Amino acid sequence: GAVKTYRIASIPADGIGPEVIAAGLQALDALARRDGGFTFDVTEFDWGSDRFKKTGALMPADGRDQIKDFDAIFFGAVGAPDVPDHVTLWGLRLPICQGFDQYANVRPTKILPGITSPLAGVGPGDLDWVIVRENSEGEYSGNGGRTHQGMPEEVGTEVSIFTRTGVTRIMRYAFELARSRPRKFLTVVTKSNAQRFGMVMWDEIAAEVAQEFPDVTWDKMLVDAMTVRMVKDPKSLDTIVATNLHADILSDLAGALAGSLGVAPTANIDPERRYPSMFEPIHGSAFDITGKGIANPVATFWTASQMLDHLGETNASARLMRAVEKVCADGIMTPDVGGTATTQEVTDAVCEAIRAEN
Ligand code: NAI
Ligand code: MG
Repeated sequence: GAVKTYRIASIPADGIGPEVIAAGLQALDALARRDGGFTFDVTEFDWGSDRFKKTGALMPADGRDQIKDFDAIFFGAVGAPDVPDHVTLWGLRLPICQGFDQYANVRPTKILPGITSPLAGVGPGDLDWVIVRENSEGEYSGNGGRTHQGMPEEVGTEVSIFTRTGVTRIMRYAFELARSRPRKFLTVVTKSNAQRFGMVMWDEIAAEVAQEFPDVTWDKMLVDAMTVRMVKDPKSLDTIVATNLHADILSDLAGALAGSLGVAPTANIDPERRYPSMFEPIHGSAFDITGKGIANPVATFWTASQMLDHLGETNASARLMRAVEKVCADGIMTPDVGGTATTQEVTDAVCEAIRAEN
């Protein structure tokens, strides 16, 4: 058949972002060569903190227009030591996520072979989760303000916005995802004891949507108790859905329990495919290791595999994850997970595993 070409907008941005995106593009190239049925047409955008320092904006005013017709966005990390974090986050990542209504943030976590979890006695197979984070509203909707700045009577508000539309659609997405996994099991996380309005509405909508999925088992947890369950009984969890803030925190914990933030991926999905979806490692720009050549590229490989799934290239996606697991099992790993390899050595090994696989 005809060779498909996927148009990818690459936004490496700051810190180790360019290092891990370069690694991810090498793996994608190896997959395309190996498969033969598709190629990538990658356009790089120089958006990020350097652009902000030169021009006053992390991305151009028509930035979203420039990337809206791409098949996917491949994103590194944004954040610089000398720019406030709320400026970088709201200047680049959130305008893309919110402007493209990428309302489902999907964060798989598992312990890869060869990687040691900080949890005693927990190894590959004992922790295999997907966290679904509501990515368009909630605590990060941007509603709030400050008055009397700097005065003793200063007030700051940060208002969580939960809508029936927003909660219902993320709940459906999470139940669908739970249904697609072998255990067909979903845990709904809220804080509906202390927060009586939005969170109680979450619980009610969960129960309503659950009726549409009689084949999916579900339970619910308060977010504080959830941290305990994740640490003490990781096997008891499978698919998890939570608000923007709660899932942000829980997925950092999940990444740490799986061995390192450097292996944790994320996909910002517009399930209705009106806009391109965006794929990125969970980690940030990691100033402490920038330029040292030791950033772990595994999170970026894993999110590249999520991108391939989204594009419908499921064979290539699975091949990439098999290559990553083989390379981890062989002990070719960066220092954050106890190895001595560089980013490039891990990348070369993954590309070689892609080429060599039968
Ligand atoms: P971080 O994720 O950049 O780093 C936390 C720790 O994990 C550091 O010790 C770092 O060296 C290590 N680490 C992270 N990724 C790694 C990798 N691939 N390989 C090896 N080690 C890795 O988080 P931090 O330090 O809180 O934030 C740094 C900057 O990144 C800030 O400006 C923050 O706002 C930004 N940030 C951006 C995100 C994004 O673009 N989505 C997400 C999180 C933070
Ligand atoms: Mg986070």
